[in-house]
Amino acid sequence: MKAVEIAIPPDKSISHRAVMLASISEGVTRIKNLLMAEDIKRTINVFRAMGVTIEPSSPLGCHPWGATPGVGRVDVVVQGVGMRGLKKPRKPLYLGNSGTTMRILPGILAGQDFEAVLIGDKSLSGRPMRRVTEPLINMGAKIEGRGRSRGRLSRSELYPPLTIRGNRCLKAINYKSRVPSAQVKSCILLAGLYANGVTSVNEPEKSRDHTERMLSTFGCRVKSGRRTVSIKGPVKLRSPGAIKIPGDISSAAFFIVAGCILPGIKIVLKNVGLNPTRTGVLDILKRMGADIGFSTRGVYPERSRVENAAYFEPYGDIVVKSSKLRGVTISHGEVVRAIDEIPIIMVAACFAKGKTIIKGIEELKVKETDRVYSMTTNLQKIGADVQAKKKIIIINGGRPLAGARVSSFGDHRTAMSMLVAGLGAKGKVIVTGLDCINKSFLNFPNLLNKLN
Ligand code: S3P
Repeated sequence: MKAVEIAIPPDKSISHRAVMLASISEGVTRIKNLLMAEDIKRTINVFRAMGVTIEPSSPLGCHPWGATPGVGRVDVVVQGVGMRGLKKPRKPLYLGNSGTTMRILPGILAGQDFEAVLIGDKSLSGRPMRRVTEPLINMGAKIEGRGRSRGRLSRSELYPPLTIRGNRCLKAINYKSRVPSAQVKSCILLAGLYANGVTSVNEPEKSRDHTERMLSTFGCRVKSGRRTVSIKGPVKLRSPGAIKIPGDISSAAFFIVAGCILPGIKIVLKNVGLNPTRTGVLDILKRMGADIGFSTRGVYPERSRVENAAYFEPYGDIVVKSSKLRGVTISHGEVVRAIDEIPIIMVAACFAKGKTIIKGIEELKVKETDRVYSMTTNLQKIGADVQAKKKIIIINGGRPLAGARVSSFGDHRTAMSMLVAGLGAKGKVIVTGLDCINKSFLNFPNLLNKLN
């Protein structure tokens, strides 16, 4: 059996939040193992444009961010400016393809006394924003966006660019979100830091809780129920000193599935985030019969707040071996805990014996691309039996997959999923438009070659 160890890049969701909260807190924060990929650079640049000093803490060498070239991780030092210390940006803020920045940042901007304009690339300019603008407007911010009807989305939907005029006297709200979305929840909670009173968010299913964990690491009291989270504003965040970001389970998922579908292989992934709101992919694959083992570390409640901050998210090592997969039914709740992993789970389902049904797929249609469309089109092209109905995806697994030319559709997770499908296919799968992978996983193609 071939054994391979793969170094997984730092978590993208946690990296965004670390930069944001460190910037608006009091004190200096050393962020260890920060993801240095396109989306996080956007968030860093936005806060630099608002007067925050964020510099690499390791020697610069020849790389502007001190990151090992091509690897995409770096240690940085953020000089927090405090809750009211951000400065009005001189130009519109360009967020590229980063949906997480576009949806969470408005929460912070809503509490400022200046106006800022947020612009995205073509794909981001087509992603719905009313889910965050509506609650922020209710809290007292003034927000304008671009309206246009698009496909089946409501005519009253709002798209970037967004112009946000903050309000120093935000009202606390009790918000019931229609979608289970960590971006929506995070945006409202961050605005709640600036509001007077208790702001709470209720969601139909519990989404990832990185913001809640990060807020408590920065000294904010967070009350978390099963599907409701609340904080009492106004809040002054204090730097915990240091934060260490674990590996990204969404990036690890590509190697976990590769390990399952390739014969005679064992893959070891060290220090991967194992936050229970993100481990849906492990539960689903285990139910499909995957040979996966993992150990959890990283929560040391007995330590002081500062020491603890370095371990504020559970993480551990994952070992995956070649497996005989079988089809399963995946519920809406499971999809929420594996929202970014559904494309690679669809690949796993093509290699599983029997039928897989994936429910609750609506949110997949408004990611970097419509992932229901991108993945069904691509998988059908290489001979898989995949159908997308209105609310479910059905995959009859076990057919041998052929070679073909497929597209990334400009979406990093579609691209990486199809590269993994190509490893297990009988023919040669060529994926076009791989640049988008830099959004989250710089050296992915090189690491994937290690499995051959
Ligand atoms: C994210 C939340 C999810 C996820 C995205 C990152 C976050 O989006 O798909 O990649 O960091 O909060 P939604 O909040 O739209 O579900």
